Amino acid sequence: TVVRISDDALAIACGADRVARRFAELGHEVVRVSSWGMHWLEPLVEIDGFGYGPASPADVEAILADQAGGLCIGKIADHPFIAAQTRLTFARAGKTRPLSLDDYAATGGWKGLERARTMTPEAVVEQVKASGLRGRGGAGFPAGIKWDTVRKAANPRKYIVCNADEGDSGTFADRMLMEGDPYLLIEGMTIAALAVGAQRGYIYIRSEYPHAIAKMRAAIRLSAQIVAPFVLEVRVGAGAYVCGEETSMLNSLEGKRGEVRAKPPLPALEGLFGCPTVVNNILTASAVPFVLAEGAQAYADYGMGRSRGTMPIQLAGNVKYGGLYETAFGVTLGELVEKIGGGTGNGRPVKAVQVGGPLGAYFPPALFDTPFDYEAFAAKDGLIGHGGITVFDDTADMAVQARFAFEFCAIESCGKCTPCRIGAVRGRETMDKVIAGDRPASNLALVADLCETMKLGSLCALGGFTPYPVMSAITHFPGDFVRESAD
Ligand code: NAI
Ligand code: SF4
Repeated sequence: TVVRISDDALAIACGADRVARRFAELGHEVVRVSSWGMHWLEPLVEIDGFGYGPASPADVEAILADQAGGLCIGKIADHPFIAAQTRLTFARAGKTRPLSLDDYAATGGWKGLERARTMTPEAVVEQVKASGLRGRGGAGFPAGIKWDTVRKAANPRKYIVCNADEGDSGTFADRMLMEGDPYLLIEGMTIAALAVGAQRGYIYIRSEYPHAIAKMRAAIRLSAQIVAPFVLEVRVGAGAYVCGEETSMLNSLEGKRGEVRAKPPLPALEGLFGCPTVVNNILTASAVPFVLAEGAQAYADYGMGRSRGTMPIQLAGNVKYGGLYETAFGVTLGELVEKIGGGTGNGRPVKAVQVGGPLGAYFPPALFDTPFDYEAFAAKDGLIGHGGITVFDDTADMAVQARFAFEFCAIESCGKCTPCRIGAVRGRETMDKVIAGDRPASNLALVADLCETMKLGSLCALGGFTPYPVMSAITHFPGDFVRESAD
């Protein structure tokens, strides 16, 4: 029997290696593939297309004897969580061996690069523009326009940098992509290099992702001939959230302290080592091979409004069916949380969801009709960010969460600008007073005032976006801010 088990870090953390070993001990061939992204089922065992999970070594004999009825989820591809998705970026998830060049080529790999090699750089950029692809790191800036700025820049030395610092709480799509389909990222970056005329590329990966680092390094080695003369290299971060911000990441790549640079100049004009640089998120670069292989229109056909294509959404926190859900923009938040995510993991009512990481707004169920779209979220003082959704049940204390936002900012601040460096600390102190019941009304007014200053006066999104979680908690959950006085 051929048994397929993921070698993704999450599956391994859940015991996939032990399950794989047990099958091997019993004489079965085990193939390690990428993860399907149904995290609550890991370790997920696949035999003849049927899935069994979550499996432990003790279940192996029952699975082989077809007596593990409770664990069997039927055909994995037909599972509602998988069948309802539109997987363009994660098309290979669960299906291929991550480092197999044969598997990659057999599933349409390198098709986009081959097409790009027959086109002029300008035509490649036009395809990316026409696809409507926007930056998946969070800001949603049109990728084609960014590429065009770099393409037109006069300096002949140019770089492609992919940001895999993925610091947002509840996000894991960059990690899954690098671990599960590393050649897709390499292909996307190579297309970017052709389009703008870059010679070298760097993938900046957070040190907390050792599996992704190892896979990317191996994939770069194995595909070096295919992407030549483009040269790629992995660089490892050192655990600073702010190094996900593009200019501090560039400083870190240059071996400097990870401190934010003022913009302008834009990295597209003066980025790495002062040269024109494309800085893209992993998911942005990885969406490009589809655009080139299938055509811009095929990508733009999905989505709503100005949000074209698909978004790999990450369901996490206290959620029943957590995992990776790639779908066209436009699905409502409520559908994602209640229907696809199945509500909370412990069955308690959902109180809030935080969308877009620790700097994203908390949305109550009353806003669950909001479609997943950059503009629709912005219209409700929120952001979709990198597509992470963290679910909280009714025991969450939103005043404590608001305090946490300031605390997070205080710990992670790079210290370059005053509204963030000092504001975050004062905000945490003031929230402590609110929570202790010390003149809550006037202290909340101070918090609102401080948030206004941080929003308008901070140099980067870390200080500038901390007001989102704070103010959304105060606006949508006012009851949590009415505290008993300490005296
Ligand atoms: P931004 O709006 O300043 O810039 C977005 C991108 O567009 C940058 O790469 C910028 O250089 C580029 N750009 C802007 N104007 C341009 C032009 N005229 N020509 C060429 N390029 C241009 O946003 P920023 O500060 O880079 O990112 C903020 C976002 O980061 C937030 O929305 C937040 O959601 C997200 N974020 C993501 C995290 C993650 O783990 N992925 C963590 C923290 C924040
Ligand atoms: Fe640094 Fe914070 Fe200012 Fe950003 S907002 S530049 S993290 S001090």
